[in-house]
Amino acid sequence: MSASTFQQVFGAASEAVAQAPGRVNLLGEHTDYNDGFVLPVAIGQQTRVAMRRNADTQFALHAVELGETVQFTLDRPPAEHFASYVFGCLKLVHDTGVAIPPLDIHVASEVPIGVGLSSSAALEVATLRCLRSLLSLPLDDVEIARLAQRAEIEFAGVRCGIMDQMASSLAGTDRALLLDTRSLERRTVPLPEGSAVLVLDSGVPRSLAASGYNERRAQCEEAAQLLGVASLRDVPGLESLQRLPDLLMRRARHVLSENARVLQAVQSCSAQEFGALMNASHASLRDDYEVSTPELDLLVSLLQETPGVFGARLTGAGFGGACVALCAADAVDRVAATVLAQYSRSGQQGRQLVPSASNPGSSGPGRPPGSASAGRAR
Ligand code: GLA
Repeated sequence: MSASTFQQVFGAASEAVAQAPGRVNLLGEHTDYNDGFVLPVAIGQQTRVAMRRNADTQFALHAVELGETVQFTLDRPPAEHFASYVFGCLKLVHDTGVAIPPLDIHVASEVPIGVGLSSSAALEVATLRCLRSLLSLPLDDVEIARLAQRAEIEFAGVRCGIMDQMASSLAGTDRALLLDTRSLERRTVPLPEGSAVLVLDSGVPRSLAASGYNERRAQCEEAAQLLGVASLRDVPGLESLQRLPDLLMRRARHVLSENARVLQAVQSCSAQEFGALMNASHASLRDDYEVSTPELDLLVSLLQETPGVFGARLTGAGFGGACVALCAADAVDRVAATVLAQYSRSGQQGRQLVPSASNPGSSGPGRPPGSASAGRAR
């Protein structure tokens, strides 16, 4: 977002600006709310937030992509869904005892919405970074991720884990972030040599809250309870799952096998081995966790069958949205063109999301972690 755009909307320059990226998860799906392991990487597309204290009694929030300005106070939440993420962040910081003056807030996002690339986490993290900059708040990047997750759970109604917010707050685009979602211990790992990430949208929209996301989480909690453990992370092995009813057994089997795949993938895997783990992850998400769709299955199969692809799977929560593939670095463009053409012959309309034309660096060497930082712009 340029300062002039803020200027156009609010008639003055912003006092603080910040940005945060979306993410694509390479492996470790539906494991984070089970205290498990995840392996996301940031994408090149960012969400930018700019703020300025206003002389009003209300907050004014303008979203460029929606062409809309909404007003609210910290006692009167906005009705618009997109604004609830920003409101939630402001409210949570306010509830820690920080006085937040009425603000003009400008949001511009390159992160595709509703496809599984964490546009909401990017919005939350960018909002909190901008607030940190504006008010000189002593928040570190992990605290920002925790507040952002709470904003999503308490104000947007999705009982999400912490992967997306940690990835947006801490991951870079050139190395994946191996995160233990229980301890928040983490380290970055390189992508397998000679490989690059390709993300294609299936064109089938999804809605997290309306989908079975919260239902899956509840099923995992029920399974853990029946097994007498705090979370599925604590189940010692697949044999323990035999005591569960079939549906819960399959849900839990996905979580256990997915955790194992993440841990195997970071043991200096070749691109072929990493790709095979991604293929197995998709099968598990489709058959055991049942969060795929016919369109996602088709797109994943087309990717898996195309030369130059090491492996492919749905990414994010599922129920529609995007697929991620690990490709030979020099084959990405060809794979995308071939697969999208085949996909359109089946009557579906897909599109390439990563690498994006405006952010070609997002599948290769890119920005180091933490460089998407908040700063003042005047
Ligand atoms: C969404 C949630 C995450 C995670 C994924 C599935 O992106 O926000 O916390 O659970 O789904 O892996």
